[in-house]
Amino acid sequence: MTERVRVAVLAGGPSAEHEVSLQSAQAVLDALPRELYEPVAVIIDRRGRWPVELRRDLADVVFPVLHGPFGEDGVVQGHLETLGLPYVGCGVLASAVAMNKVAMRRAFLAEGIPVTPYVWFSEHEWRTSTDHWALVKSLDWPMYVKPAGLGSSIGISRVTSMEELRAGVELALAHDRMVIVEQGVSARELICGVLGDHDTPDASAPGELIVPGDWLDYEAKYLSRAEIAAIPAVLPERVADDVRELALRAFRAIGGYGLSRVDFLHEQDTGRLYVLEINTMPGFTARSVYARAWAASGVPYPELLRRLIDLAFARSGS
Ligand SMILES: Nc1ncnc2c1ncn2[C@@H]1O[C@H](COP(=O)(O)OP(=O)(O)O)[C@@H](O)[C@H]1O
Ligand SMILES: [Mg+2]
Repeated sequence: MTERVRVAVLAGGPSAEHEVSLQSAQAVLDALPRELYEPVAVIIDRRGRWPVELRRDLADVVFPVLHGPFGEDGVVQGHLETLGLPYVGCGVLASAVAMNKVAMRRAFLAEGIPVTPYVWFSEHEWRTSTDHWALVKSLDWPMYVKPAGLGSSIGISRVTSMEELRAGVELALAHDRMVIVEQGVSARELICGVLGDHDTPDASAPGELIVPGDWLDYEAKYLSRAEIAAIPAVLPERVADDVRELALRAFRAIGGYGLSRVDFLHEQDTGRLYVLEINTMPGFTARSVYARAWAASGVPYPELLRRLIDLAFARSGS
């Protein structure tokens, strides 16, 4: 019998999405086909402490099932590069670009990918400005105020007045020194899974997130138990094709590898599609929209895991 591949599954970590990561990692551990793989769980605690020192003699490949800063932003990916260990998913640059909403939009705009109008400023610029309105006057209400470098809707506000804007900026500044303010659009929220290497990645059937209320705030995302979604999304074929094409262009724009979930706003009045963001390690249980979108596209969850691990080895050339 050939040796099984030892897969270190990294989970937890010092991010607000610690719990979500544990759930995703458990799903990966449960589903990895045992005839091929020998999984090892590596739970990083909330202070960022590792239970073991990862080394090449402990694992053949690493699956960082980590969400948010530290695990999804290139920090852990850089650590794995220094260890010479193959790992699943995007590399350092793509992870870092995707974790910062300003850098991500610059990459998209440079490639002609549509994003909603936005402005950004630093904490210093906000605090020394004598005219806050001037900073956002190119936008209309409602606006979305966000810390540039987080995920999972934390620190985000939907605002409809200068007073709310000021409060929203203070909240965002509690999380990051860089703030982005985006034009709000009234839109359906679509997602598309990307899977593959740099050169010939595939896009899944699009899905639609069902949004309770005005927007997907933290509570709607995590405290209501299931991700409520229609997969595949009910869309005209032309729109579905545009979503898939834009998803691949967004993945290319950041230099993506392995997997990503690209999120869209489909504006109701105009029919326009905007790329809202790209997530390089989306929620990853078998019930997550990423996995369901691939299942609906003919790639069941265990096969998805196998393809991602093969891609990790293909990149490292081993
Ligand atoms: N420009 C926008 N127009 C309309 N809704 C938005 C806009 N930006 C964010 N939202 C709403 O806020 C949610 C979270 O925003 P997002 O940029 O995806 O942050 P996160 O990275 O925390 O997921 C979206 O899923 C959507 O419901
Ligand atoms: Mg989002």
